[in-house]
Amino acid sequence: AIDPQFHENRDKVDEHAGHAVWGPVDEPEELGIHGTHVAVDFDLCIADGACLEDCPVDVFEWVETPGHPESEEKADPANEAQCIDCMLCVDVCPVDAIDVDAG
Ligand code: SF4
Ligand code: F3S
Ligand code: ZN
Repeated sequence: AIDPQFHENRDKVDEHAGHAVWGPVDEPEELGIHGTHVAVDFDLCIADGACLEDCPVDVFEWVETPGHPESEEKADPANEAQCIDCMLCVDVCPVDAIDVDAG
């Protein structure tokens, strides 16, 4: 599962589509965590798609990740500022790849 303390245990190494990327990143095999309020561990995501289907405010968008061992697309928290903290995505992800900091 995604480390809920990732902002302490990882370094911010990049930005993507207006959100942070937390390393380590070594493309294409290692992609890190995208987002901060809504964080998706790209190295765990298997492109199940439940988060895209269930998020009531369309926070997630697919991004292509060719060459990643788990899946060749990932749920990117492209609109994390719109999140209403319903926690549906956290509940439905089969591999616990999503952390929402509702604090
Ligand atoms: Fe969308 Fe709810 Fe997840 Fe926020 S917590 S990203 S609103 S499903
Ligand atoms: Fe990936 Fe989990 Fe969404 S596997 S596509 S983050 S439901
Ligand atoms: Zn991203």
